[in-house]
Order: sequence, then C-alpha cells, then structure tokens
Amino acid sequence: MILITGATGPTGADIARLLGPRGDVRVLLRDPAKSAGFDGCEVAIGDFSKPHTLPGALEGVDKVLLISPLAESMAELQGKLITAAKQAGVKHLVRISSAAADVASPRRIGRWHGECDRLSEASGIPFTHIRACNFMQNLLSFANEIAATGGFSAPMADGKISLVDRRDVAAVAAAVLTGTGHEGRAYVVTGDDLLTYDEVAAIIGRVIGREVQFRDITPGQAHAGFLEAGMPPWRADEMLLLYDYLRRPGNCFLTGSVREITGRAPRRFEDYVREQAALFRDGGAVRSHA
Ligand SMILES: NC(=O)c1ccc[n+]([C@@H]2O[C@H](COP(=O)([O-])OP(=O)(O)OC[C@H]3O[C@@H](n4cnc5c(N)ncnc54)[C@H](OP(=O)(O)O)[C@@H]3O)[C@@H](O)[C@H]2O)c1
Repeated sequence: MILITGATGPTGADIARLLGPRGDVRVLLRDPAKSAGFDGCEVAIGDFSKPHTLPGALEGVDKVLLISPLAESMAELQGKLITAAKQAGVKHLVRISSAAADVASPRRIGRWHGECDRLSEASGIPFTHIRACNFMQNLLSFANEIAATGGFSAPMADGKISLVDRRDVAAVAAAVLTGTGHEGRAYVVTGDDLLTYDEVAAIIGRVIGREVQFRDITPGQAHAGFLEAGMPPWRADEMLLLYDYLRRPGNCFLTGSVREITGRAPRRFEDYVREQAALFRDGGAVRSHA
C-alpha cells in the first residue's frame, strides 16, 4: 500500500490521479470534506501535528509520499510523520523536496527542505528525495500583469531559471513509488527549459500573438510590489533571496531526471504557455505565491 500525503495540494493530487487506478493507494487528508475526486484511492483522515491520528493511516503501508506546505514548522511536522512511519515499518519514504534543499542555505525554503531531507535520511527508512526546481506553474503569477500591461516585472536582470512542469514532478514521484532501485537517491528534477526572463517573455508573446516585455526592476521595487499584493513579509523576503540566487550565473542547470525515471521527455514551457494562453492573454489567473 502507498500512502500519499499532501494529496489536496496540486502536486499530491497529480500523484494520486496517476496512481489511484492501481488500487493500492491511500490518501491522507486532514479534512473529510475534501475526499471527493480521489477515484480508486482509500481515504484516511489524519494530521501530522496530531501523531495519534497517524498509526491508523499507516497500517499496512509500505511506501509513503511525503508532502507538507512550506512553513517554519515543516521539519517538525514531517518529523512526526517520519517517526510514525518508522514505527509502522514503512519500507520507502519518498519526499517532494526542492533543488534548493540545503541545511546551510541562506534561503529559508532551502533550509526547511534540507532539514526534512536530513530527517528522512536519519530515520533509517530507505529514502528518495525528489528535488524539484521551479514549477512552470509559478509563472502564471505574471499572467494578470501581462494581460493588463503587456509585460511583467521582476528583479531578475539576465539571470536564468530552470523550469519543470509540476505534472512531470508528479510523474517522477509516481515512477519512483512504483519502481525499484531508487532508494538512497536524490534526484534534481528539471525540465528542458533554462530561460532568461527575456526568453520567457518572447515565448509568451509568440504564443499569445502579442509583444510581451520583461521589465527588470530593483529588489526594493519588487519587495514593495509583493507586499502590496498581500504577500506575507517573510515570503516577500524569500522571493528577493530567490531572485538573488537566480541572477547569479551557474546556479540553475538542467538534469535528465524526467527522461531517466519516466522514460519520456519533459513537457516544454512553450507547450505549457499554449495550454494557459487564455490566462496569459486575457488575465483572470488566481494569484498564487507558490
Ligand atoms: N512551487 C515550486 O516551484 C516548488 C519547487 C520545488 C518544490 N516545491 C515543493 O513541492 C511541495 C508540494 O507543493 P504543493 O504546492 O503541491 O503543495 P501545497 O499546496 O503546499 O500542499 C500542502 C499539502 O499539505 C497538507 N497539509 C498541510 N498541513 C498538514 C498537516 N498538519 N498534516 C498533514 N497534511 C498537511 C495540505 O492539506 P490541507 O488541504 O488539509 O491544507 C496540502 O495537501 C512543497 O513542499 C513545495 O515546497 C515547490
């Protein structure tokens, strides 16, 4: 039995959709009201912060897909699930982690994921880290600005970003959970697109048939914009650290993990933009800070 946590989030939901038809998948939900749509999956109700809810959910489980939101409490919460998994005799722990995972990272996001990866490694349960780079889906946060102004702004200069479609991260996780030989491995998962924001603008412009401009702004201007848009201050600080990281040459790179693990090519950014062309052209994207 495979237990999928974080199943109501976009990545966990994608994985549950891919694996549900196998008939040996259980999703862990905090809220029974969210149990619709998990066709073919068993549902268990539990919460990492309430350890007494976890043994029942883990009964008969040999593999766990571990996801929880980005938050200060990430390692504390995931630590409780890892302890319960160890007690339940789980044989493989697969984490959705980040390409930035590093306990010594200047970025909180990197440190939090690094701490969680380390807890998995210390558990003694065979582990796999799926260290995803930036989801293409994050760039939808520029759609409304593009529709309204013909461009988008960021303190990116000529930095490059490696992108992966979140559905390819899910496909990698599904293949790891159902395949063999992945124990003890850490995969950095990227697509085939390593792009400057000028190139991102050109691709979006080509797809929607209208010129799209990337406007480089200062970190201070960006920070003010994030706060104005309602982003929590810690997250706005974190975004500046992300852009600082992306502006430095060589920090982003491409890997062949999607091909290697799923046997097919990763989705391209241009195809993703084509799927979302109406939002990039007309706006209406729900603002996300993911
Ligand atoms: N966006 C990116 O570019 C990117 C890149 C690399 C890695 N990642 C990582 O990918 C992971 C998945 O992201 P996502 O956006 O798909 O997920 P997400 O939206 O952060 O979803 C979090 C999930 O955790 C569940 N959860 C929250 N608190 C919980 C608790 N106390 N006990 C049990 N479950 C709890 C939520 O359930 P409820 O519905 O009950 O709240 C939800 O299903 C994240 O860790 C993120 O850091 C993202």
